[in-house]
Amino acid sequence: MDAPTTTSADSGTSGGDGVGGWFTPRKKSPPTDGEQETEGSRLAALRPLGRSTEGEPASGGDLPAAGGSAGIEERLPDEGEPASAEAPAPQALLQQERVPAQRSAPAPQASASPDAVLIRHTMAEITPVADKVTSYFYALLFVRHPELRPLFPPAMDTQRDRLLKALLIAAEHIDNAPVLADYLQNLGRGHRKYGTRPEHYPAVGECLIGALSRFAGAIWDERTEAAWVRAYTTISQVMIDAAAEDELRSPPWWMAEVVSHELRTPDVAVITLRPDQPYPFLAGQYTSLETPWWPRIWRHYSFASAPRSDGLLSFHVKAIPAGWVSSALVHRARPGDVVRLGPPAGSMTVDHTTDNGLLCVGGGTGIAPIKALVEDVAEHGERRPVEVFYGARADHDLYDIDTLLRMKQSHSWLEVRTVVDRHGLLQLPDAVREFGPWNEYDAYLSGPPGMIRSGVDTLRGIGIPWNRIRHDSVEELVAAAD
Ligand code: HEM
Repeated sequence: MDAPTTTSADSGTSGGDGVGGWFTPRKKSPPTDGEQETEGSRLAALRPLGRSTEGEPASGGDLPAAGGSAGIEERLPDEGEPASAEAPAPQALLQQERVPAQRSAPAPQASASPDAVLIRHTMAEITPVADKVTSYFYALLFVRHPELRPLFPPAMDTQRDRLLKALLIAAEHIDNAPVLADYLQNLGRGHRKYGTRPEHYPAVGECLIGALSRFAGAIWDERTEAAWVRAYTTISQVMIDAAAEDELRSPPWWMAEVVSHELRTPDVAVITLRPDQPYPFLAGQYTSLETPWWPRIWRHYSFASAPRSDGLLSFHVKAIPAGWVSSALVHRARPGDVVRLGPPAGSMTVDHTTDNGLLCVGGGTGIAPIKALVEDVAEHGERRPVEVFYGARADHDLYDIDTLLRMKQSHSWLEVRTVVDRHGLLQLPDAVREFGPWNEYDAYLSGPPGMIRSGVDTLRGIGIPWNRIRHDSVEELVAAAD
């Protein structure tokens, strides 16, 4: 395959738009017997591909909005926003220095590969004009591939920040294959619900190169382009393969009927759904949910119970001001309504290979996955100590306290403490300092992003190592705020 040639930024993208011309998704062949095809070997095996130069967009104009151009201003979620994070964006990569090591502390930084150096150089070049790059990227994508526009939400503001942002972060951390692979596989599986297909990846890749070469013109050259093409090929192949593998065993989405809707407070509802087919998940995980009232707007909600024998799924949803999806779920959804669910994701789960205690801090509706973790321990018949700190801004917001106290009565190994914190739950984690020690405990944090950030600091401060602090990624909580 010829190395990609560099074209000057002003003549528009250098990345062509010939689907198939630029990047041909590799069909995943089943591993030959005995040979376990690891992600590492797959990443190493991937090669960069060529491109063409047709179809320049007239100008870097604004996004062609499908049906009205109302922007969605991003807001920080209100207290008790359900902990949700689709597969955490490679935040672990961003938080290299603070990785909430759900499993292990980050490996010491080896010297970056030549590709990573070139990619980071481009990132430094485009960061000051990131918004322009994003707008141009989507304008290019939808002008050249109008057939892709219907896959995206009507108003794109929030979206703009996530796809391209995740792509750039992933490319920047291309050397960190193990963490990246995990994240991208989750993302690849999750993209099936959007209707994303392997043949769509070349289009996105070419528009990525088009936007980068346009706004990093001063430093853009053949080597830089080749580095981005290699990185993009690696990233998309992992996503494509994960989706292909997932296709063999589960649907791209589930339809789920509301079977009960219980308003616990004026703005918190406990909603129970019956999926149209078995929905396997682990306690502590979350799903993405789309309502019939806001098509193609997906939000993440944590499962509020461990898997049930009747297959029903329950969620705690808090309606927040101007929150489209959460408000619809709390104030509009009724038994008989049908929503769509994406695949389960997240790794804030119980490690059943140890008998460490569980120290759980749940703020607002963040208590939902914590309750699921407690049920999971009970179902495994383990007698490991579980300490729950359940926080809310006011007494009347402790909407699930009766359930937790009933569980405490049935399980002697369970302790439940409530904390009313008028400071937006930021001080909730401090309550943990008065108890302990927590040497042999795994810690779980679930609640609004601010609480999780202060929680990580508190737990680190009382000596709990990274690899025993678990939570869903903060950025995703923000991005998923509705
Ligand atoms: C190549 C690497 C890609 C990366 C790293 C990436 C990353 C992301 C991320 C992080 C999100 C946010 C929500 C989520 O976590 O699911 C997202 C959403 C989405 N992506 Fe991708 N994506 C990629 C490729 C594609 C392709 C090829 C398509 C097909 C055209 C696509 C279509 C979408 C759509 C429709 C959404 C949902 C929009 C929304 O709900 O706001 N993505 N992507």
